[in-house]
Amino acid sequence: RAPDGRLMLEGVDLAELAAEHATPLYVMSQASITRAVQAYSQALAGRSHRVHYAMKANSNLSVLRLIASLGCGFDIVSGGELQRALAAGARGDDIIFSGVGKTRAEMRLALDVGIACFNVESEAEIDVLNEVALSAGKVAPISLRVNPDVDPKTHPYISTGLKGNKFGVAQERVLATYQRAAKLPGLRIVGIDCHIGSQITQAAPYVEAVDRMLDLVDAVEAAGIALEHLDFGGGLGIDYVGNAPPPSVVEVWAPLLKQIDARGHGGKHICVEPGRSIVGNAGLCLTEVLYLKPGEQKNFCIIDAAMNDLPRPAMYQAFHQIVPVQAGEATAVTYDVVGPVCESGDWIGRDRTLAVSQGDFLAVLSTGAYSASMASNYNTRGRAAEVLVNGSAARVIRKREGFDEMVAAERV
Ligand code: LLP
Repeated sequence: RAPDGRLMLEGVDLAELAAEHATPLYVMSQASITRAVQAYSQALAGRSHRVHYAMKANSNLSVLRLIASLGCGFDIVSGGELQRALAAGARGDDIIFSGVGKTRAEMRLALDVGIACFNVESEAEIDVLNEVALSAGKVAPISLRVNPDVDPKTHPYISTGLKGNKFGVAQERVLATYQRAAKLPGLRIVGIDCHIGSQITQAAPYVEAVDRMLDLVDAVEAAGIALEHLDFGGGLGIDYVGNAPPPSVVEVWAPLLKQIDARGHGGKHICVEPGRSIVGNAGLCLTEVLYLKPGEQKNFCIIDAAMNDLPRPAMYQAFHQIVPVQAGEATAVTYDVVGPVCESGDWIGRDRTLAVSQGDFLAVLSTGAYSASMASNYNTRGRAAEVLVNGSAARVIRKREGFDEMVAAERV
């Protein structure tokens, strides 16, 4: 905040920005994204490594261009994301392709651009990828995504490395699957991969996952199959509350690197696939208070952003801080902050004490990840505009979606 209480992002006054571009408005900070990428480069400095930004967190082309310019590659999970990566200036070999349900068409597209690696998630996918590669006259570089059966201690919807999750190849099957893949002429084994979940706020699950991964690396290499790279996925959490920072990238990675060295794999290329920890705290969403609605049991603060713009509270009971953009005259009242969508699940924050009046702007914080990229047109609400701030400059990186664009693909 400026000394007079105005909320700023870098050098930009957010009340002015909201007035100029209307709300809801996603705003991202270039400096914050840059710092987050640098934290990974510093934590992995001196090693052969690459940060493959998981673009599902925020796939705006300007955000991708910025992240690519900082030296990152990308982790993708669809043909659409592949096309975004290319549109942002990446080359095939900057990209790794994850996901349990790759289609033949997506595999073909990725092979045609010379993808760096397919993170294969099942034995059935091995056969299909081999077939697609052979029919394209190519050899597909692969890594097996291992399911290390580690509890990341996060929300069940975003845990991915437990036995009961749909992701990865079970540990018991990993060696046999590598041995089978090694015999297939359309495949070339290049690495091993895991991703245990998202919004992980402790180091311990990583330590456990790395340990299990390295056991598998030993077993696979003992069988005569060489692995060039180790990919440990993403998942590092961010502070949504404002006073409870999870361990930093370097705090998590320094011991992991020691662990990798101690087990004799320090010479291997390391990949990571962070999403949220690169963009999550670099963004906020500006919104206007439409109505204040006092009630017997609850007071409601009805804002113009909704679950279609900010789906995380409705989907994962996620907490985002909500703060006034300007200091007002109002007295503080406890509200449920809700959107205009016709569902009781459309809440953005519950039991928040706010001093606000109708017409005020609020900022919903930490919305840089999994907000714009998960937005929908539910209730025929156009997607909000997006702005990227750099110093005192603010540039529209996605214009507000209008009605014509929303119905453009429909036929009557
Ligand atoms: N790699 C793979 C294979 C992934 O599936 C994911 C995220 C990532 C990397 C990046 O994870 P991150 O560093 O962002 O935690 N929509 C949910 C999060 C879903 C995460 C899905 N996979 C949320 O809003 O909390």
